[in-house]
Amino acid sequence: METEPPKVLASLTVLLLLATALAPVPGEQARALLVWKASLSNQSQHALRSWENMSAPCSWLGVRCTAHQRWRQTAISGISLRGMRPRGTLESLNFSALTTLTCLDLSHNYLAGAFPPGIGVLRELQALLLQGNQIRGSVHLGKMSSNLVTLNLSINHLAGHIPSEIGHLRHLVTLDLSSNNLSGSIPSNIGGLTKLTTLNLFENNLSGNIPRELGYLVNLEDFDLSENTLSGSIPNSLGNLTKLTTLHLFQNLLSGQIPRELSYLVILEDLDLSNNTLSGSIPRNLGNLTELTILRLWVNRLSGQIPRELGYLVNLENLDLSNNTLSGSIPIIIANLTKLTYLSLFQNQLSGKIPRELGYHVNLQVLDLSQNTLSGSIPDSLGNLIRLKTLQIFQNRLSGPIPPELGYLVNLEGLDLSNNTLSGSIPRNLCNSTKLTFLRLWKNKLSGQIP
Ligand SMILES: *[C@@H]1O[C@H](CO)[C@@H](O)[C@H](O)[C@H]1NC(C)=O
Ligand SMILES: *[C@@H]1O[C@H](CO)[C@@H](O)[C@H](O)[C@H]1NC(C)=O
Ligand SMILES: *[C@@H]1O[C@H](CO)[C@@H](O)[C@H](O)[C@H]1NC(C)=O
Ligand SMILES: *[C@@H]1O[C@H](CO)[C@@H](O)[C@H](O)[C@H]1NC(C)=O
Ligand SMILES: *[C@@H]1O[C@H](CO)[C@@H](O)[C@H](O)[C@H]1NC(C)=O
Ligand SMILES: *[C@@H]1O[C@H](CO)[C@@H](O)[C@H](O)[C@H]1NC(C)=O
Ligand SMILES: *[C@@H]1O[C@H](CO)[C@@H](O)[C@H](O)[C@H]1NC(C)=O
Ligand SMILES: *[C@@H]1O[C@H](CO)[C@@H](O)[C@H](O)[C@H]1NC(C)=O
Ligand SMILES: *[C@@H]1O[C@H](CO)[C@@H](O)[C@H](O)[C@H]1NC(C)=O
Ligand SMILES: *[C@@H]1O[C@H](CO)[C@@H](O)[C@H](O)[C@H]1NC(C)=O
Ligand SMILES: *[C@@H]1O[C@H](CO)[C@@H](O)[C@H](O)[C@H]1NC(C)=O
Ligand SMILES: *[C@@H]1O[C@H](CO)[C@@H](O)[C@H](O)[C@H]1NC(C)=O
Repeated sequence: METEPPKVLASLTVLLLLATALAPVPGEQARALLVWKASLSNQSQHALRSWENMSAPCSWLGVRCTAHQRWRQTAISGISLRGMRPRGTLESLNFSALTTLTCLDLSHNYLAGAFPPGIGVLRELQALLLQGNQIRGSVHLGKMSSNLVTLNLSINHLAGHIPSEIGHLRHLVTLDLSSNNLSGSIPSNIGGLTKLTTLNLFENNLSGNIPRELGYLVNLEDFDLSENTLSGSIPNSLGNLTKLTTLHLFQNLLSGQIPRELSYLVILEDLDLSNNTLSGSIPRNLGNLTELTILRLWVNRLSGQIPRELGYLVNLENLDLSNNTLSGSIPIIIANLTKLTYLSLFQNQLSGKIPRELGYHVNLQVLDLSQNTLSGSIPDSLGNLIRLKTLQIFQNRLSGPIPPELGYLVNLEGLDLSNNTLSGSIPRNLCNSTKLTFLRLWKNKLSGQIP
């Protein structure tokens, strides 16, 4: 007990000494930035003309300082040159002089060259924003500060693998590596970054399976892995991500069935699994996702009937099930989706009549039922769809006359009823819409004149 106080004092002194040693001299910070400025293009130097007075870097454009007790002085804590167009590289930036940085935002500029490995000395860094540049090479995250909360490297030319060291960045809330040229598989230990609310890895060359460990990211709200070459099935563990509002897995090579567990994502607003090779039927349980405004499943190998439970998705604005092998008739209950502006069931094997209830969709702008085996006549109720811009029902087995009510569609820009067995004369007012740019009626049994 007696020896305790001196011990504490001693360690305090060590801490203070350490802190003093770590704190960069303001002059050195200014010098480091001026050296970097000198490496940039003349135009950039002009833009940074306020970067001059060595004794007052805190007054420079985009430079923020903080008085920190631990540093025992005022030091540079933030640099934000977003969209100020500096052109050059980060090679000559001496990061060792800037260890007090908590935020570095150089986004939307013309920075090229390699991702700077030296950036790892920024132990206090919480936000690194380099998106929208031309930075190449591989991402070195091995020594990156574990204090990072926000990492946005999207829209660059980064290549190579996502290093598994990314699993050390345990405080990350936002991770965006989208629109690069990253390859290899998604490290499964990203599943340990449980504070993540946004995970964007879209538009890369990532391959392999979606790690089921991503199901641990229970705070995720936005999740986008689209436009990669990911394969295997969609892990059912994604059903654990109950805070998701956006789930985009489109344009990959995913196969297998749509997991029923996705129906646990009850606040999901946007689900896009298009352009994969998903098979099986559309799970009925998706009807539980009543917050959905967008459901896109186009270009897959989905079969079976359109589940009538989709009729519960009363907030849907965009429903695209085109280019699958769906069969059976169009469920009448779809008519309850009165917020729909876009409905495409194009290129399936749907049969039966066009439900006249489709005429309730007064908000529809695009209706595409082409390339199915629909029969019967075109319901005159479609004339109610006064906001309709595109109506395509080509290549079906529709018969009977074209209802003159279609002439009420004064906003129509395109009408394609070709390759059916429609008969009778072409209604005189069919071209009432002044906005019509295409009208295709060929391969029918129509008579009369084109108005
Ligand atoms: C940049 O400016 C210096 C002098 O200010 C000039 O000598 C040099 O040619 C300029 N370089 C370019 C690429 O314009
Ligand atoms: C540079 O900044 C210091 C400290 O704010 C100030 O005293 C000095 O006048 C400035 N020098 C010039 C040339 O502006
Ligand atoms: C970079 O900064 C550190 C810390 O201020 C300093 O010790 C070092 O000499 C600088 N390096 C260069 C190349 O200026
Ligand atoms: C990353 O930057 C891009 C480009 O500015 C932006 O669109 C995106 O929303 C950012 N990501 C996150 C998660 O904020
Ligand atoms: C992307 O990386 C691949 C190798 O993984 C390479 O073949 C390709 O040229 C790169 N594309 C671009 C645009 O850099
Ligand atoms: C995550 O989902 C899987 C598969 O649905 C399940 O077995 C597991 O218990 C879930 N984990 C948590 C933490 O909810
Ligand atoms: C579907 O994805 C493939 C790549 O997997 C791409 O080449 C094709 O353009 C995509 N199709 C559409 C309609 O976007
Ligand atoms: C989800 O939908 C299915 C089928 O419609 C239903 O049986 C089930 O009770 C629903 N689950 C929840 C949690 O609403
Ligand atoms: C439908 O999908 C197949 C691939 O499954 C593709 O080859 C074809 O071009 C697609 N058709 C349209 C019109 O997008
Ligand atoms: C569909 O709408 C009709 C009336 O328009 C209503 O009677 C019916 O209950 C609705 N069905 C569902 C499942 O919401
Ligand atoms: C017309 O539709 C039939 C299927 O109903 C299809 O086989 C044929 O190729 C189509 N003709 C043209 C010219 O598109
Ligand atoms: C043609 O359109 C006008 C509105 O632009 C409408 O008032 C008129 O009733 C329409 N005529 C017919 C025959 O549908």
